Amino acid sequence: MEADVLFMQRALDLARNGLGRVSPNPMVGCVIVHQGRIIGEGWHQQYGGPHAEVNAIRSVTDQDLLPESTAYVSLEPCSHWGKTPPCANLLIEKGIKEVVVCNTDSNPLVAGGGLQLLTEAGTLVRWGILEEEGRLLNRRFFTFIEKKRPYIILKWAQTVDGYMARPNFDSKWISNPSARKLVHQWRAEEDAIMVGRQTVQYDNPQLNVRSWPVQGQNPLRIIIDRQLQLERHYHVFDRQQPTRCYNLKENAREENLAFIRLNEAHFLEEMMQDLHQGGIQSVIVEGGPQLLELLLAKGLWDESRIFTAPKTFGEGFYAPRPKGKLWKSQLVFEDRLDVFLNS
Ligand SMILES: NC(=O)c1ccc[n+]([C@@H]2O[C@H](COP(=O)([O-])OP(=O)(O)OC[C@H]3O[C@@H](n4cnc5c(N)ncnc54)[C@H](OP(=O)(O)O)[C@@H]3O)[C@@H](O)[C@H]2O)c1
Repeated sequence: MEADVLFMQRALDLARNGLGRVSPNPMVGCVIVHQGRIIGEGWHQQYGGPHAEVNAIRSVTDQDLLPESTAYVSLEPCSHWGKTPPCANLLIEKGIKEVVVCNTDSNPLVAGGGLQLLTEAGTLVRWGILEEEGRLLNRRFFTFIEKKRPYIILKWAQTVDGYMARPNFDSKWISNPSARKLVHQWRAEEDAIMVGRQTVQYDNPQLNVRSWPVQGQNPLRIIIDRQLQLERHYHVFDRQQPTRCYNLKENAREENLAFIRLNEAHFLEEMMQDLHQGGIQSVIVEGGPQLLELLLAKGLWDESRIFTAPKTFGEGFYAPRPKGKLWKSQLVFEDRLDVFLNS
């Protein structure tokens, strides 16, 4: 139905406001409709805060209209006690006539339970409206729950002749200032940023969010340094934000800095497992080429964001060959941004 699509699209648009603020929860939006008119809206704004349904119901001025209303929710209402009471119960309590859902929740704590509760209470229930759009919006959440690892975004900048760095390891500045600002926005949207040891050595990146307002704390920094070769003077060890260094040698913990020892045989898989256990829902990997190639080869990636700048190096370190399906392309001033999905 056209109206279903319209109201569900609104719920998805509201949900998107939670990007970078609700992890490891999903982004959820909710619209309350009475006789074809929106009378309430809400979204999950902050991890631990009220869910979308609660905010939407609260926003309705005339609560007497609720029993004659339909709630459009972008994700199946929860049926368990988490940090807040179950939303399915609230919808039942308020006597909402009909609940229309975009995606069912693959979290085993919910998985159909919310829809069942509603149906048993006599609420009309429909689901599957704009399902694909909903899965794309919450791709971090669904990957985290279903693959038991963070959603992995690979990001790099390359010259038009395919290089990521010059032979002397210099890679400054391939992309333009607007593209770099966009990367800071992306950092603010993800739970963690990862780079390889050589990138720390040659670029000494800070891996924080400087050119974009941060909603919460800066993302977790992740470094791979298997033999613990990096000296402590690099920015990533300044303990200004949480940082994990994965290695083969030792476990140690200081304020804002953890060294985590893994086994060589399944190093990257174990690292992803550890991040999953730590509730890290998404990681943006910012190079270098060796680390990106490794993740691509192992299929440990979900999305690639590649800037191609109209510059040539003629020689140096090649960028990886993109894999997957081209999802979208756009210009960021003179640089082309291509986004690929691993599906
Ligand atoms: N243009 C761009 O977007 C961009 C972005 C970042 C960096 N760069 C440039 O890229 C260059 C550095 O890149 P790089 O390719 O030389 O190095 P890198 O990717 O930064 O570092 C290689 C990483 O891969 C890890 N690794 C290698 N084999 C592994 C395995 N079997 N299992 C797990 N981890 C493994 C290494 O760990 P170990 O150290 O323990 O071996 C290291 O952490 C610099 O010139 C930098 O300026 C360019």
